[in-house]
Amino acid sequence: NFSKPILGIETSCDETGVALLRWDPEKPGRGLLSHALFSQIALHAEYGGVVPELASRDHVRKLLPLVRQALKDAGLTTADLGGVAYTAGPGLVGALLVGASAARAMAWALGVPAIGVHHMEGHLLAPLLEVDPPETPFVALLVSGGHSMLVEVQAIGQYRILGDTLDDAAGEAFDKTAKMMGLPYPGGPALAALAEQGTPGAFRFSRPMTDRPGLDFSFSGLKTQVLLAWQASDRSDQTRADIARGFQEAIVDTLAIKCRRALAATGAKRLVIAGGVGANKRLREQLGQAASDDGFRVYFPRLAFCTDNGAMIALAGAIRLASGQHQDETIAVHPRWSL
Ligand code: KG4
Ligand code: ZN
Repeated sequence: NFSKPILGIETSCDETGVALLRWDPEKPGRGLLSHALFSQIALHAEYGGVVPELASRDHVRKLLPLVRQALKDAGLTTADLGGVAYTAGPGLVGALLVGASAARAMAWALGVPAIGVHHMEGHLLAPLLEVDPPETPFVALLVSGGHSMLVEVQAIGQYRILGDTLDDAAGEAFDKTAKMMGLPYPGGPALAALAEQGTPGAFRFSRPMTDRPGLDFSFSGLKTQVLLAWQASDRSDQTRADIARGFQEAIVDTLAIKCRRALAATGAKRLVIAGGVGANKRLREQLGQAASDDGFRVYFPRLAFCTDNGAMIALAGAIRLASGQHQDETIAVHPRWSL
């Protein structure tokens, strides 16, 4: 019975996310009842990046308290649940297994179905949690720490990959560049904040792969350009901010150029931005401007649903369960899994 609330669990990387959603296609927020998140950023900051084993252990510690919290916030008990959705991949294998085991065990104990969800489908559908959600078809730009993809969403569940990254993901490029310049982990938000203080035009880097047709991305050369500029500079605080600004402009421009190309190629009039880099202010500004210039509409999830969260997993799982999909009881995860 899928008019009952679905529990969503996200543990693919360094955020433990949990949410409850009573699927209702007509309702704003699609029936989201509560969500709770614990970020492990402070835990990994000391090491300058995510330590997989520490991530798994922290998911073990935080997952059940978060489930209790989400139930309490929604005024529900486990007896009210109609199903459990969890991220089955892609992601860190140990971290994924924590969510998958907990979800499967809970579903088995409660006698309700469980479903493994693709993490990127979660990101892709996150804008549907907002008021005035996009209708299909749309083009989605998925930009996170692990992915940079352009996807044509013909309908929910019908995806065509238009472009992918050949090397670093957009978020990864932000993080690695930030680390090179001595900024704290996670580098993306830190670099974006620093770029605000940079002088426009002081540094100009190339817009990789925009000079030829196609919708794939490559950011590793850009990272090297920035490294060389940083090493050759006076390394003052102002120069660091100037370089950060030049780098951010290059990435944002590149993403915007490819989005416009994808819209032209598919004839779509709606663009969805999802994934952690979707929280970037300059990207939001620039695509907002492109939308009004070119006459398309752009949709962003709220900032908390751009980065990893349980709500997007509850949503993607609820849609699949409502359409009659279910899986056997094996606890299986897919660290690498294409959309
Ligand atoms: O979607 P997400 O939370 O996790 C993955 O599935 O990877 O994305 C995290 C990525 C990180 O690389 C982080 O640095 C980046 O998103 N990020 C940002 C900003 N906020 C998060 N990058 C640029 N500007 C931001 N404001
Ligand atoms: Zn993600």
